[in-house]
Amino acid sequence: MVKNLIPENDLLNPEEIKKGLKTKIIGKKVYFFNKISSTNLYAKNLIKKNIEEGTIVIADVQTRGMGRKNRYWHSPYGGLWFSVILYPDLSPKRGIFITMAASISVVQAIKDINGVDTEIKWPNDLLLRKKKVCGILTEIDADLHKINYAIVGIGINVNNKLDDELKKIAFSLKQEIGSEVSRLKILKSILENLDKNYNKLINKDLDYIKKAWFYFSKIIGRKIQITDGNIVRKGVVKQIDDNGGLILQTEFGEIRITSGDIKYL
Ligand code: BTN
Repeated sequence: MVKNLIPENDLLNPEEIKKGLKTKIIGKKVYFFNKISSTNLYAKNLIKKNIEEGTIVIADVQTRGMGRKNRYWHSPYGGLWFSVILYPDLSPKRGIFITMAASISVVQAIKDINGVDTEIKWPNDLLLRKKKVCGILTEIDADLHKINYAIVGIGINVNNKLDDELKKIAFSLKQEIGSEVSRLKILKSILENLDKNYNKLINKDLDYIKKAWFYFSKIIGRKIQITDGNIVRKGVVKQIDDNGGLILQTEFGEIRITSGDIKYL
């Protein structure tokens, strides 16, 4: 039986992850599981035990991976499925910047390690050949003026198989490169990039995050259709505002959008 197609040196064990990791906050503590229901869910339970900031939870396989809007996230062996625990001193209104910082970090890591350009699709997808290669689910718990915690769940199709149905909308790094790629190297690079970007964020350098995000998203000026439940809107993206809302020029005037699924027209 073919059990493990990934090279032995691509094990995601905590020692390997932490070895030589150049970070101040992210990845100081690592929980690894062969199989787990959801790394976001496990992270949520760790927070109840006052776990330290920057802790990551990672698994080879998730049996109940969670996507946005309660969707199921396919998480078989070969992908990168992990969550990062953060306690940012940030206004809840700026919560979207956490996802933005994470998206930038993944784009930078995939470029650095694999030389592959991915594109950010608002609010939290990364595309490769117009298909989804990475999804980010940020779960935030906040009071009126304070974020209590944020769990940044990142799922990347690396070497994992995609069934025929998923292949219509998803893409993997292995498909792009033509051979297996190291999950460990990508993970370490994401953690290092996230550490830098997160530092910008908590030092209130939101402009840096915004500029980098714009650079990788190429969304300004594009014509899109956005679907939220049964509301469908069309327009040209003019701007992303300081709270992460999408400013859309529609035939009825300018509107602000905060959630929904985008299709480029
Ligand atoms: C999306 O819908 O695009 C977001 C997908 C996020 C998936 C990741 S995989 C690791 C973490 N644990 C989860 O259960 N979900 C996130």
